[in-house]
Amino acid sequence: MCFIALWDRAPLIEPTYVVASDGVRAMMESALTARDRVGVQDFVLLENHTSEAAFIENLRKRFKENLIYTYIGSVLVSVNPYKDLEIYTKNHMERYRGVNFYEVSPHLYAVSDNSYRSMRTERKDQCILISGESGAGKTEASKKILQYYAVTCPASEHVQTIKDRLLQSNPVLEAFGNAKTLRNDNSSRFGKYMDIQFDFKGAPVGGHIINYLLEKSRVVHQNHGERNFHIFYQLIEGGEEDLLRRLGLERNPQQYQYLVKGNCPKVSSINDRSDWKVVRKALTVIGFSEDEVEELLNIIASVLHLGNVQYGGEDSGNACITSDTQIKYLARLLGVNGTVLTEALTHKKIIAKGEELMSPLNLEQASSARDALSKAVYGRTFTWLVNKINASLAYTDDSYKNWSVIGLLDIYGFEVFQNNSFEQFCINYCNEKLQQLFIELTLKSEQEEYEAEGITWEPVQYFNNKIICDLVEEKFKGIISILDEECLRPGDASDITFLEKLEDTVGGHPHFVTHKLADGKTRKVMGRDEFRLLHYAGEVNYNVNGFLDKNNDLLFRNLKEVMCMSENKILNQCFDREELTDKKRPDTAATQFKASLAKLMEILMSKEPSYIRCIKPNDSKQAGRFDEVLIRHQVKYLGLMENLRVRRAGFAYRRRYEVFLQRYKSLCPDTWPNWRGKLADGVATLVKHLGYKPEEYKLGRSKIFIRFPKTLFATEDALETRKHSLGESPQHVLLSLPTIGIQAWWRGILARRRAQRRRQAADTIRRFIKGFIYRHQERCPENEYFLDYVRYSFLMKLRRNLPKNVLDKSWPTPPAALTEASEHLRKMCMQNMVWTYCKRISPEWKHQMEQKMIASEIFKDKKDNYPQSVPKLFVSTRLNGEEINPKVLQALGTEKMKYAVPVTKYDRKGYKARPRQLLLTANCAIIVEEAKLKQRIDYKALKGVSVSSLSDGLFVLHVPSDDNKQKGDVVLQSDHVIETLTKVAICADKINNININQGSITFTVGQGKEGIIDFTPGSELLVAKAKNGHLSVTAPRLNSR
Ligand SMILES: Nc1ncnc2c1ncn2[C@@H]1O[C@H](COP(=O)(O)OP(=O)(O)OP(=O)(O)O)[C@@H](O)[C@H]1O
Ligand SMILES: [Mg+2]
Repeated sequence: MCFIALWDRAPLIEPTYVVASDGVRAMMESALTARDRVGVQDFVLLENHTSEAAFIENLRKRFKENLIYTYIGSVLVSVNPYKDLEIYTKNHMERYRGVNFYEVSPHLYAVSDNSYRSMRTERKDQCILISGESGAGKTEASKKILQYYAVTCPASEHVQTIKDRLLQSNPVLEAFGNAKTLRNDNSSRFGKYMDIQFDFKGAPVGGHIINYLLEKSRVVHQNHGERNFHIFYQLIEGGEEDLLRRLGLERNPQQYQYLVKGNCPKVSSINDRSDWKVVRKALTVIGFSEDEVEELLNIIASVLHLGNVQYGGEDSGNACITSDTQIKYLARLLGVNGTVLTEALTHKKIIAKGEELMSPLNLEQASSARDALSKAVYGRTFTWLVNKINASLAYTDDSYKNWSVIGLLDIYGFEVFQNNSFEQFCINYCNEKLQQLFIELTLKSEQEEYEAEGITWEPVQYFNNKIICDLVEEKFKGIISILDEECLRPGDASDITFLEKLEDTVGGHPHFVTHKLADGKTRKVMGRDEFRLLHYAGEVNYNVNGFLDKNNDLLFRNLKEVMCMSENKILNQCFDREELTDKKRPDTAATQFKASLAKLMEILMSKEPSYIRCIKPNDSKQAGRFDEVLIRHQVKYLGLMENLRVRRAGFAYRRRYEVFLQRYKSLCPDTWPNWRGKLADGVATLVKHLGYKPEEYKLGRSKIFIRFPKTLFATEDALETRKHSLGESPQHVLLSLPTIGIQAWWRGILARRRAQRRRQAADTIRRFIKGFIYRHQERCPENEYFLDYVRYSFLMKLRRNLPKNVLDKSWPTPPAALTEASEHLRKMCMQNMVWTYCKRISPEWKHQMEQKMIASEIFKDKKDNYPQSVPKLFVSTRLNGEEINPKVLQALGTEKMKYAVPVTKYDRKGYKARPRQLLLTANCAIIVEEAKLKQRIDYKALKGVSVSSLSDGLFVLHVPSDDNKQKGDVVLQSDHVIETLTKVAICADKINNININQGSITFTVGQGKEGIIDFTPGSELLVAKAKNGHLSVTAPRLNSR
């Protein structure tokens, strides 16, 4: 590979350290900058990636410098330092919060933060799988992750309580489920998977724990140098005097048979007394009442008393209890009848020919019945405890089920002892399953990334441990099936027959050996009662003694009956009476464990995994000791080299285009100071300028993949040189440090502003979506933002689309929540428009409108020709001065004429039509014939006006018939009937006396006689006397009605 000589056009400033020119924080790429000094921070950057020695050397180099974390891509490798490093402070947490993986040095917090951010941005559940052998630091890691979330996640009052409970669940579970073993002073003797639930704001709001197979045998037996579960010692060392008195306990662990087997009551690294205080406080925080604590401790004490129940043999060989004191305490603490308990501890109930018989137990049987009871009581109480913690961590807000989850798996590590039994078999099987998952998921995700980027996947050789998983769990043929078969079959099944069955069935399996099947060399290191499994993590010999009993996990029926009668509320929940009547045999311990692991795998597969692979540096728990042999062994069985090979299968390094370009853009004149085109083109231009050969890299859809570390390092070195040359350039000298500082500072501000805007935008979108989901509910914190937004946007839309004038009836459809308000607004808007309109009109126009209003009141929807009149303006008069005879005007004198119109008058008798003029004054209507005032009708005397509903212009002015001055009602016709009658109505103040008639109008002719006008619709206007003597009016039909 060659590099083109660095271009010599000097840039203005050097941006890559602090803030990039586009405001985005420049990636520090700490893995690259920290190279050499302390090895590589990411194993993928090891030049010789297939060399185990190089791998171990890198680990060693870093370990010596107290750098216990190193990546393999996104997998974190952690070496237990066995000493307190100051790397878990709040400051450290802050440093890793919201920062990209490769910007800072490897750390647990980087993995935690990465999972948290993925959960929040991609809304996908996450899980962090912590694996490694016993003592490698899994539990410590899981606690530190939990602390990280507790400190860095947003909190409210409720969240604070949950955070406290999540944190405090650890000391309680450790007290009851952890113990000192040869490998680890605080070894987890149960598996734990914990879900931390986060709400949409990213605050931890709940949790749930699933526990896996507690090593119950530890309750009754411990190997030399080991202890029982911590809680026993904590209670004895830390319990107050009167508490111990109440429980009948002495402050001396040596007094208890269950605590002396390992001959190790004290451990220097453990302070039972102060741990007791922590546990007591934690129980309160989690929500245990005083009564519950009392009952819980009664159970713990009763297990110790059970261990001290001594048996003596009668002559017959039957067991009898020799110490009454224990029974007295037990009866009180367990809340059972002492005599019944004594009988149950020395007899077994058998059913023969339908009859129940009590059969005495011999010494050995009685002791194992007692131990079985102790294990059952402790084991079930532990499960109760987990359930109780779960209840206190449960997220109670039913309305919000849509939380996201980060799961933490801290399960017992792979372990090998001098003597390995059923428990180690289960634990190591569990580790096989996890390794299997790890292989599947890492390979899968790697492959997926290649596919997503459109890069060809090159297959990698690796050891797939599925073959061992199958050996253990396969249906009918696997070790668990064979063990179950031996447990269930009638006859003389024993641990040895189980071993023989194994030899028969899986004898030929490449990962299975027994003494009989082994070659001479192996035989020497194997007992005859052992079988060996060649695990992915190494060979383990399992002693079959006790396998059948432990797998059966049986408790005599009469002991169960006693416990079902217990008055202790916890035990009452642990021993369910239904169990006594249930005829179905419960699943064996191994089958239950297998099923629970299968479920665990399902849970883990459904989430996005992150991995922490813990390594134990030495067997003596010493700080600073790097035992190469031990470490090499773990590197091998954890499959780290394979993991690295997979990661490096194609390419050592990959980065998104923008990150790569941002870092190296100063190395090419075309990309410096900014590349304006497509990112992919920019990267292509850059690498071409740098002289990358085609086999050295590939360009994916969004990332560049670089095959060899050396290519990358050469680029990195070029960047270093470039920085120096920039530093020496004259322009650079000109730019004083303060100037650079100010520029950087200003860019920082811009970048922060932009980041803040982006954060706000994301937050708004999130709130909007949530509000949309809750939009139909009452106003609540989840939807208030959305509802406000909907309101705001409706009002804005309304503002833009208001009706243009009073006739414009358009109005935007309001959202449901605003229907009422919208109606109010609509009315107000209309009123406002009307008001503005009214304010603007002239008096004439107002007068016109008033008349039109009156016309509308009288005629709208009543008379056929009304609609035609609407658009026509009413005029002040239809006859001007010249058209009226001067004599008439003279006769009127001072009386002011208000309106005049030509009309046709129909004679009352012959209905002859005669042209007339109708004049309206302030007081009367006058019918004029040329110069003569023919008839004067005072408005006071005007009884009413009749008009038809059709389109004709006929109308009748009714006058009182007893008025001699009048010759009867007047029948007139006007071409402007609506206008004429409106004027009459106004002048005579008779708005309510205009009668609109259908069919006919009756009128008086004088002296009590009546005439009738019949109206019918027809094609054209026709007025004539009909044969029946009526005046017949045919009015043209109009389309308006
Ligand atoms: N990061 C750390 N810093 C300091 N000490 C640590 C760290 N991790 C582990 N240790 C020490 O190592 C001991 C064992 O660690 P831990 O209990 O986490 O092991 P484990 O992997 O959970 O083992 P097991 O499988 O037996 O439960 C701790 O008690 C602690 O003393
Ligand atoms: Mg542990």
